[in-house]
Amino acid sequence: MNDHKVKAAQMAVDLIPNQAIVGLGSGSTASIFIDLLAKKAHEEAMDITCVATSGQTQQLALGFGLKVVDIDAVDRIDVTVDGADEVDPDLNGIKGGGAALLFEKIVAMNSQKNIWVVDSSKRHPRLGSYKLPVEVVKFGVHHVYNYLKEQDLKPVYRQQEDGNYLTTDSGNYIIDIDISQVDDLPKLANELKALTGVVEHGLFIQVCDVLLVGNTGEAIYRK
Ligand code: 5RP
Repeated sequence: MNDHKVKAAQMAVDLIPNQAIVGLGSGSTASIFIDLLAKKAHEEAMDITCVATSGQTQQLALGFGLKVVDIDAVDRIDVTVDGADEVDPDLNGIKGGGAALLFEKIVAMNSQKNIWVVDSSKRHPRLGSYKLPVEVVKFGVHHVYNYLKEQDLKPVYRQQEDGNYLTTDSGNYIIDIDISQVDDLPKLANELKALTGVVEHGLFIQVCDVLLVGNTGEAIYRK
């Protein structure tokens, strides 16, 4: 287990109060958080209710004995803890490396507070080293791909190990695009959302409230 991820996850666990409704992110760092949260909830007899951002996270949390409910069974989510693939100094980020961006964004946008747990390798002066995932419905996907190609965004279908296109929890495809040459990311975010067939993209702008960085022990708050 990566010590820096463990440290960031532990810092996040320390911020979870009793009786919280907690959004559980996806990915390796979020998984460590889920493990540590379950241990703390058990040891301290905490009353914690969770909402999962992927099928994998749901199975993991249930396996650790956490109470996991459907997102529509709760009226609020107090805090969500998730990882990120890349974060800039304003705490904007790219997510979706694990293809869970759609549910991650739905849970995040309905959370009072969003905490991201990372190690410092995820921090970059500007976004774009990491490819941006775009989730697209299967019907007509190649037309979206062609459009992205015309825009010089160098689209690549995300594939599974067997070479088939990866299918998300919602039954869609992921196209990863290169945004390293794009200066106006909020504009790109709006344009992607407006494209028919695009369900969601992995740009999370002004979503993260607190960034916990494992190797430095920093808690960075969004201004
Ligand atoms: C999944 C995500 C993850 O949060 C992101 O990929 C970071 O994962 P990890 O903690 O394993 O580096 O967005 O869709």
